[in-house]
Amino acid sequence: MDWGQSNRLSNIIKPETGKTVMLAVDHGYFLGPTSGLEEPKKTLEPILKYADTLMLTRGVLRNCVDTSIDVPIVLRVSGGTSVLQDDLSKEGITVATKDAVKLNASGIALSIFVGSDNERETLLNMAKIIDDAEEYGLVSLAVTAVGKDMVRDSRYLGLASRIAAELGSHIVKTYYCDDFEKVVRACPVPIVIAGGKKIPEKDALVLARNAIDRGAVGVDMGRNIFQSDSPVGMIQAVREVVHNNATPDVAYDLYNTIKNEK
Ligand code: 5RP
Repeated sequence: MDWGQSNRLSNIIKPETGKTVMLAVDHGYFLGPTSGLEEPKKTLEPILKYADTLMLTRGVLRNCVDTSIDVPIVLRVSGGTSVLQDDLSKEGITVATKDAVKLNASGIALSIFVGSDNERETLLNMAKIIDDAEEYGLVSLAVTAVGKDMVRDSRYLGLASRIAAELGSHIVKTYYCDDFEKVVRACPVPIVIAGGKKIPEKDALVLARNAIDRGAVGVDMGRNIFQSDSPVGMIQAVREVVHNNATPDVAYDLYNTIKNEK
């Protein structure tokens, strides 16, 4: 990893704690105006300053984020499907890495669909953007998307995460699962977890706590923040868990205090 990549990696995973709270708002690339992201600019304005990194698409970055932003960007560079498809694995590369560089991204992210009919294409696409990341000094992030017939367990997520790391991805985004420590142990690069579908705030904080305790370096969370009753409260509560080692109870109290301040 050259100086530039190391610097960009430290933009994403904060050296002070070795952890990260990535805010994911890239969902529209296949979900369209999903709940909480109908107006990305409005969603982002109150919570952006609490994010260590922002994961989003080129279109939302260009049109909904001010150029004065000082939050590092991880750009979603895969897509080509929509929620109207029953098989979301037919993704390709949708952003040229040169444009990611021009957009001042610190990292680029692509989904791999291990076990799907399009496994090979998505893995070769991941290899391509890893090569690009090396050429341009960016950080690569592999998203282990769970194919429709796959079980989100440590065996599957361990396989997908390890394959991503073997390809050379700098960071792997996967999901929390039982025996998560096995996934972490078998993956030689940092792991962040997606939050997944919206669950009660307390449960999402327990999820984050468990993931960190079992070896994740952070979260790349979206719906459990921007679909929360208080996104500003939730992202700050998640930060307490990730960066300050807070218990879910303490973090949940913070969430409620901020939520009730309005
Ligand atoms: C959507 C994504 C999201 O970045 C990822 O799932 C994190 O968001 P959430 O916490 O809402 O799951 O890859 O396809």
